[in-house]
Amino acid sequence: MSEAGFSPDQIDTTRPHPARMYDYYLGGKDNYEADRDAAERILTALPDVGVTARSNRDFMHRAVRTVVDSGVRQIIDIGTGIPTSPNTHDVARRMDPGVRVAYVDNDPIVAAYAGAKLTNSGNAGFVLADIRDPAAILDHPVTQDLIDFDEPVALVLLAVLHFVTDAEDAVGIVRSLTERLPAGSHLILSHGTADFNQSDGFGKVTKVYNEESTSSAQWRSGPEISAFFEGFELLEPGLVQLPLWRPDGPVPSGADLRRHMGYGGVGVK
Ligand SMILES: C[S@@+](CC[C@H](N)C(=O)[O-])C[C@H]1O[C@@H](n2cnc3c(N)ncnc32)[C@H](O)[C@@H]1O
Repeated sequence: MSEAGFSPDQIDTTRPHPARMYDYYLGGKDNYEADRDAAERILTALPDVGVTARSNRDFMHRAVRTVVDSGVRQIIDIGTGIPTSPNTHDVARRMDPGVRVAYVDNDPIVAAYAGAKLTNSGNAGFVLADIRDPAAILDHPVTQDLIDFDEPVALVLLAVLHFVTDAEDAVGIVRSLTERLPAGSHLILSHGTADFNQSDGFGKVTKVYNEESTSSAQWRSGPEISAFFEGFELLEPGLVQLPLWRPDGPVPSGADLRRHMGYGGVGVK
């Protein structure tokens, strides 16, 4: 076992992993041949996956700034992914250096990078756990050490819930995670969708994830994604296409906007 709580043989480089495929979409180097091969086939089916990944990261920056600006000083970031600068703590700590972050992912390779890039700066920790086991995340000693559940928390679920199917009770999982958060807590959520681009590429993409990768994928519609915000009031402008959430620069329109295949929203409890 390593310090991050996994043994090296848990790292399977022969099967595509969503975290490493996403790293490839973002132009990162922390991926293997199996990941690149699957990611290339996905980019052939849906060429705008890379554009969407980048607008998802930009949404994270704006949403985390908004939440820290409203006074939240502790964050649980589940499905955090292979570190991509700036990470959640970098964005938050530009607003307040005291923000504490518990990073969570179920991929041991993320754990391997987390030690060096996410948690070294202190006031941050990494939990190797699956979102489908909320208690394992919330009760983990690292989470308990970093997060005071009597104070508002920001729960960050970015581009992770489309790897949890309805059959696995995605809505119930989010409810279990959020019901322990006090009033004033925020939910920052993004999710892939076919609402803005009816390409049949989605079918091919789903097939690659479901048949080859370590996670099955389910793209949801706006109303289906809204259901995750049960118990939260959506901040303006609501659940919207990623670039339209409180833009801080020029906003794409028309065919350009349709390339961004994800929703983002922030709710307050
Ligand atoms: C598309 S990446 C998103 C990374 C980051 N949240 C972002 O939005 O930039 C999805 C991440 O979710 C993680 N993931 C997938 N299924 C998961 C699960 N069941 N439990 C925890 N993490 C999961 C993957 O390992 C990957 O790091």
